[in-house]
Amino acid sequence: MRVLHVAAEVFPLVKTGGLADVVAALPVALAHAGADVRLVLPGMPQMLDAVLHAKPVIDLGACFGAARVRLLRGRMPGTQLPVYLVDAPLLYRRGGGPYQSADGAEWPDNLQRYGLLGWVAAQLGAGELDAGWRPDIVHAHDWHAALSCAYLRAHASDAVRSVYTVHNLAYQGLFPHEDSALLGLSSNFMSADGLEYHGQLSFMKAGLKFADRITTVSPTYAREIATHEFGCGLDGVIRGRGNVVSGILNGIDPEVWDPAADTAVAQRYSLDQPEGKAVCKAALQKEFGLPVDASAPLLIAISRLSSQKGLDLILSALPQWVEQGAQLVVQGAGDAALEAAFRMAAAAHPAHVAVHIGYDENRAHRLMAGGDMIVVPSRFEPCGLTQLYGLRYGTLPIVRRVGGLADTVVDAHTATLADGTATGFAFDHASAFDLGAAVLRAIAAWRDKAGWRTMMARAMAEDFSWQGPAMQYLKLYEEARHGD
Ligand code: ADP
Ligand code: GLC
Repeated sequence: MRVLHVAAEVFPLVKTGGLADVVAALPVALAHAGADVRLVLPGMPQMLDAVLHAKPVIDLGACFGAARVRLLRGRMPGTQLPVYLVDAPLLYRRGGGPYQSADGAEWPDNLQRYGLLGWVAAQLGAGELDAGWRPDIVHAHDWHAALSCAYLRAHASDAVRSVYTVHNLAYQGLFPHEDSALLGLSSNFMSADGLEYHGQLSFMKAGLKFADRITTVSPTYAREIATHEFGCGLDGVIRGRGNVVSGILNGIDPEVWDPAADTAVAQRYSLDQPEGKAVCKAALQKEFGLPVDASAPLLIAISRLSSQKGLDLILSALPQWVEQGAQLVVQGAGDAALEAAFRMAAAAHPAHVAVHIGYDENRAHRLMAGGDMIVVPSRFEPCGLTQLYGLRYGTLPIVRRVGGLADTVVDAHTATLADGTATGFAFDHASAFDLGAAVLRAIAAWRDKAGWRTMMARAMAEDFSWQGPAMQYLKLYEEARHGD
């Protein structure tokens, strides 16, 4: 089975969120399971710098508004995976992020940038760019890669099928309809039965309409996106695809997130040798200027600061936890109002709340190792990775019961405590009241040291490796190849 993954991000080269972690780990797991896997990525400077032995495959001349486009092929660092880079200097070689400039404005030419990525992936799929290799499956991730599904449909080839994974339905890639000619697809593709979405063009819709199979990153989110509440205006389109939509839970990279081998933390620890966790907690308290106090329950949050993540609920519920003697360390970046509000909370409660505004991979590991509990109060969460990292690090999650959070955390209540399956705390409504109640439950449970150790042991022993999900994707690829 030959599979081409198409994406805008890959850890550690370019990362804005969990998508990058998935695109780094899933292809490796598929290759371990016997698939012949390659990636195609936009040639952003970090990609061009990091990919090993990149050599030109074909010169594509001028396209998508770029004077010169070349396809390169090299190897993903740290793996044996071949990776194609679309080298279009005018479109991709610039500072800032993959979707926005450094000051947070969307790149004005994202239509061309991600139209080109989708087109190149489809051309590779059609066997027109690299004589030596052609995939059976093109697997596109999120709106940035979704146009590949439309271009493949335009090709109408039976030799290749497309799979589209929705990592987050809220980011849709919307562009002015009058720019549709730049994509070079026929006008049928631009109708309401194609990319047209309330007078605009939607890249997300290209994936939802034209992929042979659609997946999302947890079974619960797969059901949720077919509803008005979570469908972001596309629930009708998703219901229209019926049984080609399914959910496959993400795994985590056990080498990147392993408390027993983590080089970023104060002292490594494991299920059998848990002593290091207390050292990590004291080090974290010290690093963030909080009183070094083993008897204070330490909550952490590591997150994009956006309304999706519900961190505003933490701000409302916080005074109650402070009264309980709890500490909170937050690391996040994003919404300016939330950043300011967290800074103010830290200033108001200096002995209890500390905040790092910014993105810092190593520090995220130190939070994960030092915390007692991780708070993930999302309004919606397609999968969520930080609660999985929390489980692995014995930092028990407190989550809202939505999407992948509902699928991965077992709430502690009488029955689950009795049968030993509890791994965290879940609540239903996106309200400060419900979150507050869950945190108070968690603090009470934490004070029962023996009970807490049992829950930690259960959480740390859980298998969230990519092996199982990779087998599910391989099965889905087979179905896509042999189905209609
Ligand atoms: P999303 O992709 O919606 O942001 P996920 O939970 O799937 O949510 O993935 C988030 C990823 O980004 C995790 O790897 C998490 O550790 C990381 N992350 C988020 N914010 C920060 C930050 N400020 N610093 C370091 N890592 C962060
Ligand atoms: C998205 C989602 C997150 C998911 C990640 C990786 O960014 O918001 O829930 O874990 O993609 O699939």
